[in-house]
Amino acid sequence: MSKIIVFTDTHMAINPRKGRPEPNARLAAGLKHVATFNADADCIIFCGDLTHEGDAPSYGLLQSRLQDATLPVHLMLGNHDNREAFRATFPDVPVDEGGFIQQVIDLPDLRLILLDTLFGPPYEYPASHAGYLCEARLAWLDRQLTQAANKPCCIFMHHPPHDTGFPAMDQIKLRNGDEFYACIERHSNVKHLICGHVHRTISGTHRGLPFSVFKSTVGQMPMQFTSLDSTVENDEPAAYGIVFFTPESTLVHTEDYEISGLETD
Ligand SMILES: [Fe+2]
Repeated sequence: MSKIIVFTDTHMAINPRKGRPEPNARLAAGLKHVATFNADADCIIFCGDLTHEGDAPSYGLLQSRLQDATLPVHLMLGNHDNREAFRATFPDVPVDEGGFIQQVIDLPDLRLILLDTLFGPPYEYPASHAGYLCEARLAWLDRQLTQAANKPCCIFMHHPPHDTGFPAMDQIKLRNGDEFYACIERHSNVKHLICGHVHRTISGTHRGLPFSVFKSTVGQMPMQFTSLDSTVENDEPAAYGIVFFTPESTLVHTEDYEISGLETD
């Protein structure tokens, strides 16, 4: 069995936005909760939007906060990140041959494939808020799936490659989802897909592949299916995901850790 913890959309900021949740404290509480109640997990995946502005001081803040982590941590990028600033702060994070923040983590019974869907450089907004997997990144994914032909794989990517029902976020999903699905449908070993970006707990299937999307640690997407404003958010409690993989099943839990009723002290 594998047990994976998923944090997403931590939006760390050296100068937190006025009136918004304080990301450093929220992440600290989340990591403490994991250390107390889920210390037996294999690792923690951070599914992108590590920072809000993609700036060096905010990556430095994240780096210092992650010293609290008691499990192996694997970092991914989202649309609010900056690949060059990230690499300057985290030079040891694995990259693929093109310099994209993509890596494979092989557990005994499962391959985790972490993709880099950041659409840049150039970082030109709002276009760069959508995600993209260029030909090189898709070819890398294809190779990782081929190499693990007899092993189940779980793919992690910040941007969902399909609509999730929120028009504002559907406008900035992965731009080339059809190419992504064409790639994975050449293989039979993709077991599950995990995304961030939407700041909301969502699950379902698309083109037959089960997916899970998790809430942010700082601000959630209001449950309104008509808004075209991707910046709206409410202050529902922060959450992280807990995913169990066995040969027979995938179990996906969400822990709203600020209201868990479990004392970390
Ligand atoms: Fe985000």
